[in-house]
Amino acid sequence: MPKIISIKKKINNFNKTITVDADKSLSIRWALLASQATGKSRAYNLLKSEDVSFTLDCLKKLGIQISQKKKYCEITGNGIGGFKFKKNIILDAGNSGTLSRLIPALLLKSPYKIKLIGDTSLSKRDFSRIIKPLEKFGASFFPQKKTTLPIFIKGSENIRGIKYNEEKGSAQIKSCVILAALNATGKTFIKAKKSRNHTELMLKNLKIPIKIKQTKNFDFIKIKKIDKIKKINYTIPSDISSSAFFIVLTILSNNSQLLIKKVNINPTRIGAIRILKMMGAKIIFKNREMYKGEKMADIFVKSKNNLKAIKCPQNLNSSSIDEFLIIFLVAARAKGVSYFKDLAELNQKESPRLNLGSKILNMMGVKTELTKNSIKIYGNPNLELKGKYVIKDYLKDHRIFMMSVIAALTFGGDWKISNPDSIKTSFPSFLNLVKLIGGREVYE
Ligand code: S3P
Repeated sequence: MPKIISIKKKINNFNKTITVDADKSLSIRWALLASQATGKSRAYNLLKSEDVSFTLDCLKKLGIQISQKKKYCEITGNGIGGFKFKKNIILDAGNSGTLSRLIPALLLKSPYKIKLIGDTSLSKRDFSRIIKPLEKFGASFFPQKKTTLPIFIKGSENIRGIKYNEEKGSAQIKSCVILAALNATGKTFIKAKKSRNHTELMLKNLKIPIKIKQTKNFDFIKIKKIDKIKKINYTIPSDISSSAFFIVLTILSNNSQLLIKKVNINPTRIGAIRILKMMGAKIIFKNREMYKGEKMADIFVKSKNNLKAIKCPQNLNSSSIDEFLIIFLVAARAKGVSYFKDLAELNQKESPRLNLGSKILNMMGVKTELTKNSIKIYGNPNLELKGKYVIKDYLKDHRIFMMSVIAALTFGGDWKISNPDSIKTSFPSFLNLVKLIGGREVYE
């Protein structure tokens, strides 16, 4: 793939049906849980992306047998705590926040220090968020007080259940504590600000004793040590976060419509759909189904003029955290000033997305008011771009790349966008699908 792509023309009207790539959160969770199961687990439609292949490579280094066939991936788990720990293991999590925050929870019995590393972007991200709870369980981290990768993790024979208060609305922290609890003696109690609940649903589906009491803003989770996890066969549905780029492409295009097949529409993931509907978008879920506790549907979306600005309710932040960049583009076209607040976590992603989102909007001539944790976006329903726009390689952030492609295809202008390779982490088919919908003429 070239290092930069060039887009000089808006996309023409379209009316298509597409399938986007499989869900990343579910793919990584399936692989990690399958590694703890007893026997052979199979996943069909596992996401074929770098974040998932880094996950499989880490598991192989821990002695797990994995075979990838054309139609499915098979993992032979050795039971809970069944990794083959040895000296000098280095686990590379690549670009993946989810892998790097969840896998340490499975290392709590390692008698040896295990080194965890990642790429430049991941090495800038905060790990104190998982170090703190895992130390409470009885693990040790080296060098002490270091809160970024690379770090070393060492387990202990004495891993005990904990009480933990998760206040950021981070599913990665919550899932890390839940997975650690599977290896700990006694019970673990978590008070967690609402966030995506795939880990809990997978465990419930496996009949693992996890109790969840839901209140408006928090989930109270109780989990105790178990002896065995049954094999987990799973067909992974499509990713709502990947779908969101095409949903917004359709909303901002003229006279177009799109059907996206079999997408996971877990209520803890569809904040963006709620926000876009509040802004006036036409989005309908069709052919709803339940699968292993997860909701799925086909998503139908139409182009929309007269979009309205939004004062975004904070309680939708966690369920749309990966979609804000693309929502910001809709705010740029909406009538009025949109306001998104309590969003400090957005600067903790693969790149500082709150800051960079604002910077890209400013480049497009859209006025913003940015603070450490909020943004006001002054929308313009007549926004049409004519100038030249160059998007640099901001820490290889896949979502900055995809947001910029959607901006170029819907607002016009002459764009040069680095680094198409970034989509390999989460959504390798992104550019092929853009072409399929009609963006064929846009590449050099
Ligand atoms: C994810 C949780 C979110 C999200 C990430 C995937 C997960 O991160 O941004 O892309 O699979 O648990 P946080 O838990 O840091 O909010």
